[in-house]
Amino acid sequence: MTNPKDKKVFVKTYGCQMNVYDSDRMADALATKGYAPTQEMEEADLVILNTCHIREKAAEKVYSELGRIRKMRDAKKEKGDGEMTIGVAGCVAQAEGEEIMRRAPVVDMVFGPQSYHRLPELLDRAHNGSRVVETDFPVEDKFANLPKAKKEVTRKRGVSSFLTVQEGCDKFCTFCVVPYTRGAEASRPAHQIIAEAERLADAGVRDITLLGQNVNGYHGEGADGKDWGLGKLLFRLAEIPGLDRLRYTTSHPRDMDEELLAAHRDLDSLMPYLHLPVQSGSDKILKAMNRQHSYDDYVRLIDVIRDARPDIALSGDFIVGFPGETDEDFEQTMRIVREVTYASAYSFKYSPRPGTPAADNPDQVAEEVKSERLYRLQELLNQQQTDFNASKVGTTMTLLLERKGRDEGQLVGKSPWLQAVHVQAPEEMIGEIVTVHIDNIGTNSLFGTITGGHSTMDRSKISHREGINT
Ligand code: SAH
Ligand code: SF4
Ligand code: F3S
Repeated sequence: MTNPKDKKVFVKTYGCQMNVYDSDRMADALATKGYAPTQEMEEADLVILNTCHIREKAAEKVYSELGRIRKMRDAKKEKGDGEMTIGVAGCVAQAEGEEIMRRAPVVDMVFGPQSYHRLPELLDRAHNGSRVVETDFPVEDKFANLPKAKKEVTRKRGVSSFLTVQEGCDKFCTFCVVPYTRGAEASRPAHQIIAEAERLADAGVRDITLLGQNVNGYHGEGADGKDWGLGKLLFRLAEIPGLDRLRYTTSHPRDMDEELLAAHRDLDSLMPYLHLPVQSGSDKILKAMNRQHSYDDYVRLIDVIRDARPDIALSGDFIVGFPGETDEDFEQTMRIVREVTYASAYSFKYSPRPGTPAADNPDQVAEEVKSERLYRLQELLNQQQTDFNASKVGTTMTLLLERKGRDEGQLVGKSPWLQAVHVQAPEEMIGEIVTVHIDNIGTNSLFGTITGGHSTMDRSKISHREGINT
């Protein structure tokens, strides 16, 4: 066997931001075994697919990717370039378990999202010749047992970061696989989250997005031993020096409580952008989806949020063609979009997911009807997004400079509303928050000119951040 220090891991990430966060945690766990990340699958000793189960044929796509990987592994071996260990993680792993081992003999390890802290041990077992399946929900605390990344590793990952605070979902929307693949709602204790946020800030991170499948359902043990909701947690995180920007995603309309609204009202660092999926505008469909709120409840809630934070922009998720959706139901979705106006949105055709209640509904909507509805909805949402971006031209906003742009001397920054803004600035300014005047809009981004620094900028954090490699 070669020197373990030389080992490389390639992790391919599918799905939501929680998987992006988890892929970094797997990399942290593997670093303890001497594995360094690589972007090239060919040179990897270990390949992990961190899968998503939300879309139609998700599992089939994993099997065909595994077919390609098998060819690559065989070619590598033939060339004398060594062995390749192959793992399947994430939501397809959790859902399919043993089935993956049966259908894809190339796979050495199948392990679900709750077992990432055990990855070094699972890898040892695989290297000893076992085919490892680990999809039970273990009782020990995954997060407490995951190793912490070194400061320079965190620094290299950039100035914005995700931080998972809650996993799983108890909402059981009738179309959704998440409660089955990620399990019951569970929140991390606040002290753990605060410590992680402090470590991130110390490494130069300035923009943190708290993650959870139902993040505003967060209910963790607080630093004072009491039960904390997401609002309370945000107030505490806002005290961390250097953390100028906080966000959270994705939230459920039923869990916007008073304290969370107060956070939107009182915290400058809580960015004025909220992803609050409504899925449909029809009360009949909302009921069939088990969303537990009506059209009016949602619109009223948006009013309250906009009262608390007038510059807030909204984003959402929509499903068209849910079983039983009529033309009138769909028009209600168009109506709620016009009434609320979104800065950004994701919209999908309903796709039956085996094991979910809606999949068994005999009243499925025809494919061409779904396509036509999706086209109309996306046209409207795209128009709203363009209008939102255009509304920023001529205004001034703060910008977190994140990475180099494509052109010489150009940097790309993130606006409070998650827009990409291109400016002329030297690379050393990455990590700074500046004030920028928006000059015009491109297809997917804005263009601006830096007009000044930003008052809350923490210079002590910037001076020692030359090493950033974005
Ligand atoms: N936790 C998130 C949802 C994650 S899934 C939330 O509650 O907002 C992301 C989005 O995928 C959902 O909001 C929904 O719009 C879409 N989605 C989930 N299951 C789907 C299905 N069976 N068909 C079509 N879209 C689906
Ligand atoms: Fe799925 Fe989100 Fe509904 Fe939970 S709240 S079941 S994750 S769509
Ligand atoms: Fe996909 Fe699992 Fe996220 S199914 S959307 S990766 S929670």
